[in-house]
Amino acid sequence: MKRLSLLFPFICILLVGCGLQTEPALFNPYAPETFQRYTTDVPDDFAGLANPLHGDEAAIAAGAALYAEQCAVCHGDQGLGDGSAAGVGAEPVSPLAWSDLLLGDDYLFWRITEGGGEFGSSMPAYPYFTEQQRWGLVAYISSLGTQSAVDAGIAHMREVLTPYVTDGAVIQQDADTFLTVFSALLSYQRTQTSLHIGTMLDIETAALDDLITLNVITPDQLEAYYIVSQTMAETKN
Ligand code: HEC
Repeated sequence: MKRLSLLFPFICILLVGCGLQTEPALFNPYAPETFQRYTTDVPDDFAGLANPLHGDEAAIAAGAALYAEQCAVCHGDQGLGDGSAAGVGAEPVSPLAWSDLLLGDDYLFWRITEGGGEFGSSMPAYPYFTEQQRWGLVAYISSLGTQSAVDAGIAHMREVLTPYVTDGAVIQQDADTFLTVFSALLSYQRTQTSLHIGTMLDIETAALDDLITLNVITPDQLEAYYIVSQTMAETKN
């Protein structure tokens, strides 16, 4: 018995080392707490700001260096929300590489400046970075929205949807339609630099309207998309 009690702490360390500690929940843009951030108006001081350094190579390089030093530990080297400290806070870390496709420059600049305090999250605030540094970070984050980030976003949402389908909250056909629309949404956003102002809700609504007008998606597909996102907003998974 004595031997066992001596061994106990080591067994615990071993189990944790093997990954048996609680995994952070998967980031879900439509989960209630995330959706709250995505529907809150960007504060007046920030609303409507466009990145003066958008696409500026030197700013992107400076943003990349600052990101590697300060942000990658949580947001991950490729911006997929999987840094080594990602499980430290209670809430999942935003996979900026693809979530940025649905987020305005003004929103990103605001969230980097003021952090997650207002939303009770562990996202730090960086008001002491110069404006140039913060816009450089926004420029770098925007540059991450490549086709492979779109693919990662779709694979991620497929994983997010799985438990809803297993639980019967969402039928498989609607989950598939959701992914078709989500994929069209991210792909469209990748080509629409002019739309990147405002909250996720503003951007998503405008882009979905365009996709209907352009006949990329049908009204029925849009309806299924809304049913599934609504279910995720109302169900804790
Ligand atoms: C301690 C971990 C941590 C560090 C370090 C960190 N973040 Fe975050 N960040 C988070 C978490 C958790 C969230 C999601 C919760 C939220 O939005 O408040 C987040 C959200 C964000 C968002 C909002 C994205 C969205 O989907 O709403 C932006 C933008 C952001 N981080 C940028 C940065 C940048 C740039 C840095 C480095 C200068 C950084 N973060 C450093 C944890 C971190």
